[in-house]
Amino acid sequence: MNGTGDASLRTLVLAPSGRDAPLSIRLLEDAGFSAAVCQNLAELTQKLWQGAGVLIIADEAIDDEQLQPLVNFLDSQPTWSDVPIILLTRRGGGPEDNPGTLRLASILGNVSFLERPFHPTTLTSMVRAAARGRRRQYEARLRLEQIREREQQLQTALTAGRLGAWTLDVASMSFQISDTSAEHFGSDLRTAPSYQRWLQWVYVGDRSRVQRALEHALRSGLDFVIEFRNGRPDGSLKWIDVRARAVRDHKLRVCSLVGVSSDISSRKQSELDRETLLADLALERTALSDLTRDLELRVARRTSELTAEIAAREKAQEQLMQSQKMEIVGQLTGGIAHDFNNLLMAVIGNLEILRKRLPNDPSMQRLIEGAMQGAQRGASLTQRMLAFARQQDLRTVSADLGALVSGMRELLQRTLGPGNDLRISIAPGLPPAQIDSHQVELAILNLALNARDSMSEGGAIDVHVDVEYEDEIPNGLRPGAYLRISIRDTGRGMNAATLAKAIEPFFSTKPLGKGTGLGLSMVHGLAVQLGGSLELASEPGQGTTATLWLPQASTAASGPETVSLPSAAARIARILVVDDDPLVAMSTVDMLEDLGHTVFGANGAEQALDIIDRERPLDLLITDHAMPGMTGIQLAEVVRRKRPHLPILLATGYADLPASRLANLPRLSKPYQQAQLQAQIETLLGVAQPELH
Ligand SMILES: Nc1ncnc2c1ncn2[C@@H]1O[C@H](COP(=O)(O)OP(=O)(O)OP(=O)(O)O)[C@@H](O)[C@H]1O
Ligand SMILES: [Mg+2]
Repeated sequence: MNGTGDASLRTLVLAPSGRDAPLSIRLLEDAGFSAAVCQNLAELTQKLWQGAGVLIIADEAIDDEQLQPLVNFLDSQPTWSDVPIILLTRRGGGPEDNPGTLRLASILGNVSFLERPFHPTTLTSMVRAAARGRRRQYEARLRLEQIREREQQLQTALTAGRLGAWTLDVASMSFQISDTSAEHFGSDLRTAPSYQRWLQWVYVGDRSRVQRALEHALRSGLDFVIEFRNGRPDGSLKWIDVRARAVRDHKLRVCSLVGVSSDISSRKQSELDRETLLADLALERTALSDLTRDLELRVARRTSELTAEIAAREKAQEQLMQSQKMEIVGQLTGGIAHDFNNLLMAVIGNLEILRKRLPNDPSMQRLIEGAMQGAQRGASLTQRMLAFARQQDLRTVSADLGALVSGMRELLQRTLGPGNDLRISIAPGLPPAQIDSHQVELAILNLALNARDSMSEGGAIDVHVDVEYEDEIPNGLRPGAYLRISIRDTGRGMNAATLAKAIEPFFSTKPLGKGTGLGLSMVHGLAVQLGGSLELASEPGQGTTATLWLPQASTAASGPETVSLPSAAARIARILVVDDDPLVAMSTVDMLEDLGHTVFGANGAEQALDIIDRERPLDLLITDHAMPGMTGIQLAEVVRRKRPHLPILLATGYADLPASRLANLPRLSKPYQQAQLQAQIETLLGVAQPELH
């Protein structure tokens, strides 16, 4: 065997007799072909399996019995393969003359005949033609393999994408569908793939839409792209996505639609779920924002309630602290004032005696007068302090407040001076008030003075008196009717800080030495002691209104106090003076002795009772109230039992008298002067009969 190279194009030569084989081999190799010699049909067939481009077979080498393997090989060739065979015949052995050769040719297939002896060129040109044909077969094989491979790839892609493939032939309006598309469109389309059947499976609600789209695609040649619902045999629906492209024939008419289908039910379901979820979420979000808004509103409401509560509590605490402070200051002031009262009592008493006894030297009298005025001012100061401390010795009566205020017109007008207008208005039909008239007059005067001082440029003062039942009475007052005196000025008013402190004792904005800062304290203390209150309302530049609330009296107003005149026959009396303060006792004794009376002094109740038991007759008992051991009232009660007719005079500067049937004993307020003492004694002794013993 000669020849190397590609076995698939070699020429196999089977010519066992004569010189045909070596001659052919030489000729072929000379012409550039690879060639191999075979000894018999079996070898040829075996080599053929390994690959060959052309076979040259001498007809005498073909033996019917050994031919079968070769026939088997040729029959088993793939469609692209048709091995070309050159059959060497003897002269006159061609197919036209030899039916056996013709039969052989029909068995072997692609056979060419070459009669021997052959011309070398004929052989080589026949082999060349056959080899070319064989090469084309190989090329066809390659193309077929490529097509198959591509088909496989397409199939893999379709399978991976779960896509079905289909074709609609326009002429017959019938489908060609893959198994997957049959699952999508309806399994009976495998056997009867008509368009009408295909359309029947489309959900009735989507059918006309699908039909229109398909007709449009066929008419226009544009892509057919649609999603629709398809029925299943079990009655359920599935969503199908279809995409197809029109294919045109050589006349450019749309002859078919080629496309793919896919089941998008789960995607549609997720879309549906997503939409439902989004709708639910939107609902929840709305509900949540409603809730948040509601919550914010409630928080804001509660916060403002709490803020108001805290503010109210802080205000209440502040008021409590303020009232506790005032209570303590009041106690302190009251205590100091009380002690000062006793001292002033001694000073005033002794000064009076001194004034009488000293020679009538004007310069000395002036000195005493100066000392006396100082003491008097001190006394009025302590009076105010006691008033603030609500420890004033008040004598409340049922009084006509309207008449009282009207009666002050002249005094007020004089106090205010010509630059200020005074207007007084009294509501008609006022009930009486339960007050100490003198102290209330003082209070009104104080308020009027404050008003005047605030109107340095002149202005107007309105004094108005009326009555208020229940509705508008200030907090803290017991329910009932109250008389109201309001004094309104057009002065400079007060800022918040001044207003807050105005009532505090010793608070004054007046220059040093001009104001005691006790005016409003006294008015306030008096009002509270009487069971009423003082209210101030003011704004800078807007003037001030001071309102005094005083309780209504339960009895009719008594007439103006009638002072009983001292009896003409003033007489010398025997008087017992009881006071634990030696200074006070001494000055009272001095004043009485100066008036010519016989005086017994006692430093307390015990000593007094001794004297009462011992000394007869006695015309009068003058006693202090606040004493260690037995108080003045208690002493009076004992004395009343021993000597029921002995007149008793209570000398006190202190308001804390207990509720006793003797609480309304005749009283003399400390510090008193000799004339006041004398007037009281004369009244008592004039009314009371001297004791008969
Ligand atoms: N009608 C008013 N207009 C403006 N400010 C006033 C008025 N009444 C009181 N005040 C203010 O309140 C302060 C305290 O008043 P209060 O009467 O207690 O004492 P005072 O008037 O200063 O002294 P005093 O009463 O001893 O003359 C005053 O100094 C003033 O600042
Ligand atoms: Mg004042």
